[in-house]
Amino acid sequence: MLYSLSRPLLFALDPETAHEVALAGLDAAAASGIARLIAPRVRSSPIDAMGLKFPNRVGLAAGLDKNAAHIDGLATLGFGFIECGTVTPRPQPGNPRPRLFRLSQANALINRLGFNNEGIERFIANVQRARFGPKNGNVLGLNIGRNFDTPNARAIDDYRACLKAVYVHASYVTVNISSPNTAGLRALQEPGALKPLLSGLKAEQAKLAQKHGKYTPLVVKISPDLESTDLAMIARSLIAHGIDGVIATNTTIDRSMLKGSELAQEAGGLSGRPLTERSTSVIRALAAKLDGAIPIIGAGGIMSVADAKAKIDAGATLVQVYTGLIYRGPHLVAEIADALASVPGT
Ligand SMILES: Cc1cc2nc3c(=O)[nH]c(=O)nc-3n(C[C@H](O)[C@H](O)[C@H](O)COP(=O)(O)O)c2cc1C
Repeated sequence: MLYSLSRPLLFALDPETAHEVALAGLDAAAASGIARLIAPRVRSSPIDAMGLKFPNRVGLAAGLDKNAAHIDGLATLGFGFIECGTVTPRPQPGNPRPRLFRLSQANALINRLGFNNEGIERFIANVQRARFGPKNGNVLGLNIGRNFDTPNARAIDDYRACLKAVYVHASYVTVNISSPNTAGLRALQEPGALKPLLSGLKAEQAKLAQKHGKYTPLVVKISPDLESTDLAMIARSLIAHGIDGVIATNTTIDRSMLKGSELAQEAGGLSGRPLTERSTSVIRALAAKLDGAIPIIGAGGIMSVADAKAKIDAGATLVQVYTGLIYRGPHLVAEIADALASVPGT
């Protein structure tokens, strides 16, 4: 109801301003207690994955709350888990505006934000301030990346620094090597770069687990633009290195599914409806290769209950949404969580 009233106003604003206004509104509603009164009641349907207990299968995908500054507001929408970031060690402004585009006819977004964020220190301070998180039994994923000016040869230093900082505060940590908006980042998915990165991070995770007496799962987030042979190699690497889970997928640089849209040629990652089928087929191929070894978190163009079910049918254990929230509104979370509650657990 509130969303249908505010949507025309939000869509009249440029997308990045609309984003800020919507999150400020959500924070105010959460702080004043209004959010709790109007919050959807989501059916509890606990599911175990990666040694964590998720109250339902629907999560918030990374990138909506890059600085972890709106966790408690977002938590009122009924998510089974929330992922914040991508955060980099040092603050960075990202690319010049405009860098976020609404392709309304196509129910899609193109973004080339470029990991705009306030850096790891502010991020951790925000996470610590939030009520929602592992300290209160909630599942909070923290998504880490490298600064735009750190070369891939030294990327491990950035990921390691972020992993150390987020480790105790996270339910799981996502290693983002699939954003198209940081030059060269996706090359970290290639075997020569992936193997040393994963073994370095697993070694650090082992040290941190020892030090803190707590095991925080490591998850890798992959691109939808991988060839089948790349996918097979990645699946083998994830298993060989003992990675705990995989998120499929990030946004695509492909535009073949966007005919006739005047913004189609904007550079960046495409999300929403045009990505639905492609990310589902990546999940299906990945599931065949992983054969149940580690769970898949399915993301990419989930705009409806049917889209979420298709991801689960393809082999995902959990799902995440982002662009669907913009086009369908926050009630999508409860709608999907309730529908998936009747799907038998793994
Ligand atoms: C504006 C925007 C910013 C994003 N930023 C990030 C990010 O910082 N890190 C990340 O791992 N994914 C990021 N993503 C990708 C989403 O987490 C998700 O994987 C992708 O958009 C596909 O899901 P969707 O079609 O439901 O949006 C971003 C997506 C959008 C639309």
